[in-house]
Amino acid sequence: MKIELETKSYTEKANLYQILNKEELSKNDIVYLLSLNDKPDTEILFQHADEVRKKFCGDDIHLRGIIEFSNFCEADCVYCGLRKSNATLERYRISIDEIITTAKKIYSAGIRTIVLQSGEDPHYTKDDITKIIEAIKQNCDVAITLSLGERTFEEYDEWKQAGADRYLLKHETANLKIYSSLHSKQKLEERLNHIRYLKSIGFQTGSGNIIGLPKQTIEDIADDILLCKELDCDMCSFSPFIPSPETPFRDIPPAELSLTLKTMAVARIVLKNVHIPATTALSTLSPEGRKLGLQVGANVIMPNFTPDEYKDKYRIYANKKTYDPINYVKELKELISSMGRRVAEDKGHSLKI
Ligand code: 5AD
Repeated sequence: MKIELETKSYTEKANLYQILNKEELSKNDIVYLLSLNDKPDTEILFQHADEVRKKFCGDDIHLRGIIEFSNFCEADCVYCGLRKSNATLERYRISIDEIITTAKKIYSAGIRTIVLQSGEDPHYTKDDITKIIEAIKQNCDVAITLSLGERTFEEYDEWKQAGADRYLLKHETANLKIYSSLHSKQKLEERLNHIRYLKSIGFQTGSGNIIGLPKQTIEDIADDILLCKELDCDMCSFSPFIPSPETPFRDIPPAELSLTLKTMAVARIVLKNVHIPATTALSTLSPEGRKLGLQVGANVIMPNFTPDEYKDKYRIYANKKTYDPINYVKELKELISSMGRRVAEDKGHSLKI
C-alpha cells in the first residue's frame, strides 16, 4: 500500500514537471495547475513562475502612480462599491488642475508611469481628458495609462493622438453567463471589442479578471488566462474579489489567497512577457500580499497618489488599504531591495514592443 502511494505521488510529480516544462499549456494543463493544493506542489509552481518572471521581465519592478480622480460611475457592476446604485457613497470629482498637480507629485517621487483612473464618468469630456494628457506630457517625462472604463472609439483615437500610451480595461470574467448577470449595461462581446480596438490603434492594453466571483469555476479562471493570451495583452491583472458592504455581494466571502496566488503564477507561466501587478486588492486580502505577489510572478506595483481628502471615498471594496504615498514608496523600495530586486527607473513600457 505504501509503495503504491509513493508511486502515485512520484507519477503526479512527474506530471507536474512535465506540464511546467511545456512550451504551450492547454486548458486542461492550466486547470491542473490551478487545482494543486498540496503545499510542496504549489511551492514548485510558484518557484517556476518566479523563474519565468526573471527570464522574461528581469528583476526590475515597475511602479505606476495612480490617481483615482472621480468615483462617479454610470455602470452598475454588482460587485463594485462605485456602482451607480450605491446611494451611500459620497461622490467626488477632482479638478483638472488638481489632477495635473498630483501627476507632478508622482513624477517628483521618481515614478515614470501615471495611471489616471475613474469610474465611468462622462462628466470629463473627450477634451477634458485630452487637456489632462497634454498637460502631464508637457510637464513630466512619463508614460500615461488611462483606466476610464468603456468610452467611445473616437475618444480612444483622440487620447492616443494626444499622447496616452496605455489603456486598462479588464474583461472581469470570460464566463458569458456570469458576465451578463453582473453587468446590466455592458456586454462581454462589446467589452472585448473595445480591448481589441484599443490594441489596434497602438495602445498598450491591459485586461484581467476578478477571482472568486460567485459561481466562477477553476475552468472559468483558466479561460480568463487564455483570453488574456488571445487578446495579446501587454498588462494583465488578476485580482481577488473582496466584498463591499455597499453592494448586493456584501455577504460573499473574499477570494482565497492561495487561489489568487496560483492564478498569478499560472498566468505568468502562460503569458510570459506581460506586466502583472501585485494588486492593492491582494494587499487588502493579506498583509503579506504585496511580497507574495512579487514572489509568484508579479513585476508591477501601483502606489496610490489620490489626494487624502478623496482616497477613502474610492471604495471599490471594503477596507481598501490607504497610506501616505511617499512613505509607501520608501518602504516599498526597502522591501524590493531586500528581495534582491530593484525599482525600474524607466517608463516600463510593454515587454512586447
Ligand atoms: N473586489 C475586487 N476587485 C474589484 N473591482 C471592482 N470591484 C471589486 C471587488 N469587489 C475591480 C474591477 C475593476 C477594477 C477597477 O476594480 O476589476 O475593473
